[in-house]
Formats: sequence, C-alpha cells, structure tokens
Amino acid sequence: MINLQIGDQFDHFQIRSHMAQGGMSDIYRAYDLLSGREVVLKIPDKMMMGDPAQYERFQREMEVMNTLHHPAIQKGIGSGQFNRTPYLVTELVEGKSLRALIDEKAPMQEAEAISIARKIAEAMAYCHANEVVHRDLKPENILITNEGQPVILDFGLALTKGARRVTYANLSSTAGTPDYMAPEQIEGHRGDERTDLYAIGTILYEMLSHKTPFDGDNNLAVMAQHLQGAIPRLDKIQPSVSPQLAAVVTKCLQRNPDDRYPTLTAFIDAVDHLNTADLSILETGTGAATVVPFWRTQTAMVLAASVVIMLAIIVFAFAAQSLRGIPR
Ligand SMILES: Nc1ncnc2c1ncn2[C@@H]1O[C@H](COP(=O)(O)OP(=O)(O)O)[C@@H](O)[C@H]1O
Ligand SMILES: [Mg+2]
Repeated sequence: MINLQIGDQFDHFQIRSHMAQGGMSDIYRAYDLLSGREVVLKIPDKMMMGDPAQYERFQREMEVMNTLHHPAIQKGIGSGQFNRTPYLVTELVEGKSLRALIDEKAPMQEAEAISIARKIAEAMAYCHANEVVHRDLKPENILITNEGQPVILDFGLALTKGARRVTYANLSSTAGTPDYMAPEQIEGHRGDERTDLYAIGTILYEMLSHKTPFDGDNNLAVMAQHLQGAIPRLDKIQPSVSPQLAAVVTKCLQRNPDDRYPTLTAFIDAVDHLNTADLSILETGTGAATVVPFWRTQTAMVLAASVVIMLAIIVFAFAAQSLRGIPR
C-alpha cells in the first residue's frame, strides 16, 4: 500500500480525487458508501506507513476534534484501519488553503489580513479555553472557505490536558517547516497558547508582506534566526503596513513568551484597538540580539592589532637587514 486511484474502494469509501499531500499524509476526497456523503480521507503517506505511532496519532486527532465544536475548527467524522492502514475521516471543506490564498493575494490589505488573523485567533482562543494547544499552525493547516471563513485543520501535534504525552520534540523531525515554530518549541519545550500566538503573528506578517520574518538557507539556519535574529520591522519591509499593526505583530513575535500577549483574547483586543498600540516596541522591544558588524568586534580588533604589530616587526627586521647590507 498505498497508491489509491480515482474510483478505487478503500474500506467503505470510494476515492474521488487526490486533494493534497500533507506533511505526513495524503488527502483524498472520497464518497462514503455508508452515509452517502462526500468526506475527506487522510491516509499516512509512504514515509509514515508502518509507523505504529500513526494509528494512535489519528485517534488522538479524532479525539481532539471530538472535544471541539466551533465553525472555524475542522469536524472529525471517524477514524479506522483498513488492511492495516490507519485512516482518518473528516468533513469536506470547500475552499482553498491559506497557503494558496497568500500566494495569490499577498501582500494583502491590512483590513483583509486582520480579519483573517482575527478569525483564526478567535478559533484558537476557543481551543485554548478547552485546553487544546495546536502547536502546528501554518497556512497549510488552515483552509479558507468560499465564504472567507478560516477552518483550522491538522491537530496531529496538538497538546491536550488529558492526552498521553506527545512532546513536540518526538515529532519535530517530521514536522516540516520551522518557519512558524516558536523559539520555545525549537528549544524542545511543550509550548502553550503563546506558542500558537507566535505562529499567528508569523502568519499575519506573511499575509501582509508575502514573507515570513525569519529566513535562511536551511531549517537549522531558520531556527537560529528564530532564536537570535532581529525581528524585522514590518512597516519598513512593507510600507503600506501601519506602525501600529507592525507593533502588534512584533509583540506576537517576541522571543520570550512572557513578552508576548498573554492570551489570544488580548491579541484580538489589540488588533481591535490599534490606535492604542505601544510603538516603543518597534525601537526597543524587538528581542533582538544587537548584531555588531565583524570589524567592530573585539576579535577583529585583536586580530587587526596583531597584524599591525607583525607588519611592524617585519618592516623593522627588513630595514635592519638592508641597513646592514649597505656598504660603509
Ligand atoms: N477537510 C479538508 N478539506 C479540504 N482540504 C483539506 C481538508 N483536510 C486537509 N486538506 C488539505 O490537505 C492538506 C494536508 O492536510 P493535513 O490535515 O494538514 O495533513 P498532514 O497532517 O499530513 O499535514 C491541507 O494542507 C489541505 O490543503
Ligand atoms: Mg498539515
């Protein structure tokens, strides 16, 4: 297994199309022969096949979806196993991923980006009130319906109160892009609601500028930037963004979770009252390690001084030598 073709039957589902390839699974649109409705089937991809943890992961994802009932959170239908292949069934959402929307529309107008981020934050505030932390928010895991309603997917890495311990560290090797990962996750901590806030801040930054704040040639370089890089000023990168909104985004991206908004409700309140934003964070509170150019570091000074001294010695020795060589 598994190479499902259109028209194939998988358990009591008939495959209609391959919709997407997720971080760890293939997503099919399928017709449920029992209920007579179209659903989404999530089946582990080849890489994850045979991983005994996968069945448990889908069950957990199903359990999480079962505890949440919100228009912006994907609804689970069931999970099962067929021919020893675990699978997850969820409702079909007509729309496109936020990734597709960003690629099509970013840089977006402030009002549109705020409206989307606000709805994501409301859904996540609801999750947090139910003690679920998503921990893998990114544009690929958010769908936007044809009516413009975000729907949050993929609770595969979610942290729940009663859940068996699934730490992010166990799963991060398969977790894909570090672009939206908060510093505390990179450091191997479990994360909390402020971890989701960091991701939402990153998504808002990306909707407004079509760039994520931290960049690098490879995943390690990006992670290092999250931990040490200066938070770029969004209003400088994208001049159409107001300093007030840039300040709110900067607060979400603070390295230390204590320096961010404490809750998503506080974040929503901040975007609703942009005129009260504290702009001083743009100057001081970026959490940036000040980057000193190499030629101004102590190492460079010592190196330069040694070179000068050595040169002086060489010149002196050379001069002494040639003086001796001069016939009297
Ligand atoms: N219910 C759905 N309706 C429409 N598209 C979906 C649905 N669920 C998932 N997708 C698409 O499949 C992709 C992967 O799904 P996801 O649950 O994130 O899997 P993974 O855990 O492998 O990352 C998503 O990015 C999205 O584009
Ligand atoms: Mg995903």
